[in-house]
Amino acid sequence: MRNGQKVREMWRASVLTIFPDIFPGPLGASLAGKALATGAWALDVADIRAFATDRHRSVDDTPAGGGPGMVMKADVLARAIDATAADRRPRLVFSPRGVPLTQDRVEELARGPGAVLVCGRFEGIDERVIAGRGLEEVSIGDYVLSGGEIAAMVLIDACVRLLPGVMGKASSGAEESFAGGLLEYPHYTRPQVWEDRQIPDVLLSGDHGKIAAWRRSEAERLTRERRPDLWATRSAAVRTKPRGPE
Ligand SMILES: C[S@@+](CC[C@H](N)C(=O)[O-])C[C@H]1O[C@@H](n2cnc3c(N)ncnc32)[C@H](O)[C@@H]1O
Repeated sequence: MRNGQKVREMWRASVLTIFPDIFPGPLGASLAGKALATGAWALDVADIRAFATDRHRSVDDTPAGGGPGMVMKADVLARAIDATAADRRPRLVFSPRGVPLTQDRVEELARGPGAVLVCGRFEGIDERVIAGRGLEEVSIGDYVLSGGEIAAMVLIDACVRLLPGVMGKASSGAEESFAGGLLEYPHYTRPQVWEDRQIPDVLLSGDHGKIAAWRRSEAERLTRERRPDLWATRSAAVRTKPRGPE
């Protein structure tokens, strides 16, 4: 507490990877990079290989039961996780079979103290370390990447831009895609006509009520057309919302 106000601890991402040199990568540029430089968030990157004990610094071994590829070793990964600051941050591991990352989960993570992020490689990681260290499996989409590092960057970028002061006044998350369960409405800027394509008249009308109504209806149309899954969830939420006093 300072002057009766709760002081927010710095949002911290701790990344465990066998490719530490990849970081901060794109997180060092633009909004996230500026915020990292000014101390609005912190990033530590641990090299999992530093926790190997053999001469070859092995982090992987052949799969039990046979099959292609290699599996990240539970003992090495567990040592790397245990050496990361013991605090109340959630511990996530990236995996195509994890729970899909959503803007709601991103907002929840951004409100918290940060996250410990384990990046898989090879065929994946030994199941026992997931259970033994209580790792939450997170997927960034229905496709297979070669490693969890880009997934970690996606998650960090999505969280960091929501931290207080990072986006600035010019842009806000309140009207972005997924806010209120809708995709965002279309944007336009000058010139008024480009390749015979006009900016919709309503946006030039100066009538803020009509502009807001047009944006709302475009957001609904796009969500219905492109993401029937989101539209169905939102429609169900609207139907079950308790009605206010008549
Ligand atoms: C080649 S992938 C392993 C794929 C795994 N054999 C499977 O079929 O589910 C190597 C690593 O990349 C990361 N990865 C790949 N696709 C991902 C996704 N869609 N979301 C999150 N992480 C992913 C995970 O950390 C994974 O352990």
